[in-house]
Amino acid sequence: MTQFETRISDHEIEPIFLQRWSPRAFTGEAMSEPDLLRLFEAARWAPSSSNSQPWRFLYARRDTPAWPVFFGLLRASNQVWAARAAVLMVVVSQTTTHPPGRDAAVPSYSHSFDTGAAWANLALQATAMGWHAHGMAGFDMPRAALELHVPDDYRVEAAIAVGRLGDKAMLPEALQAREAPNGRERVDKFVFEGGFPT
Ligand SMILES: Cc1cc2nc3c(=O)[nH]c(=O)nc-3n(C[C@H](O)[C@H](O)[C@H](O)COP(=O)(O)O)c2cc1C
Repeated sequence: MTQFETRISDHEIEPIFLQRWSPRAFTGEAMSEPDLLRLFEAARWAPSSSNSQPWRFLYARRDTPAWPVFFGLLRASNQVWAARAAVLMVVVSQTTTHPPGRDAAVPSYSHSFDTGAAWANLALQATAMGWHAHGMAGFDMPRAALELHVPDDYRVEAAIAVGRLGDKAMLPEALQAREAPNGRERVDKFVFEGGFPT
């Protein structure tokens, strides 16, 4: 059993898995370039099919010219809190791959799976460094593809806000009530020895 605040695992795990969560109350503190590079470095070492590394991270830091473009892609419900993030990212994955020995690119089966692993690495690294990474699907994906010049053979996967945890009093009341690490289904709800039960 491992515990972090209200989160209690049924089986012992590394505490970082419970410590990573998705807050919305960010302080607005800026993130240094070396710290940001450490997040991408963690993503870099994710596993991927044939080591194809299909992930791409597009990003903007606060108070830089690119910030309004990234911020403008977010749904209003995310803009409310993500305005105080240090970095906004859009993660995309390459949908084709060029296997060794083949002369043409072929569709990739696992680009989203692989890119999910890279984002998870990034989020865990952020937690280890005292930052938080909050994934978002609430943004305009087609406009992201257009405005961020995403090539045709890439899928827009998700947006991420990275920030330093602040006081939840800064959030609108409805979000304050939700500002705490949440729970999970029990392991036996999603793990089936021998296949799905029939
Ligand atoms: C792909 C993805 C999309 C998400 N979209 C949003 C979003 O648009 N807005 C939001 O506030 N949270 C969003 N979340 C955060 C999830 O609600 C959160 O990860 C989930 O409730 C589990 O909580 P935890 O990350 O704190 O452990 C998203 C998370 C992921 C991974």
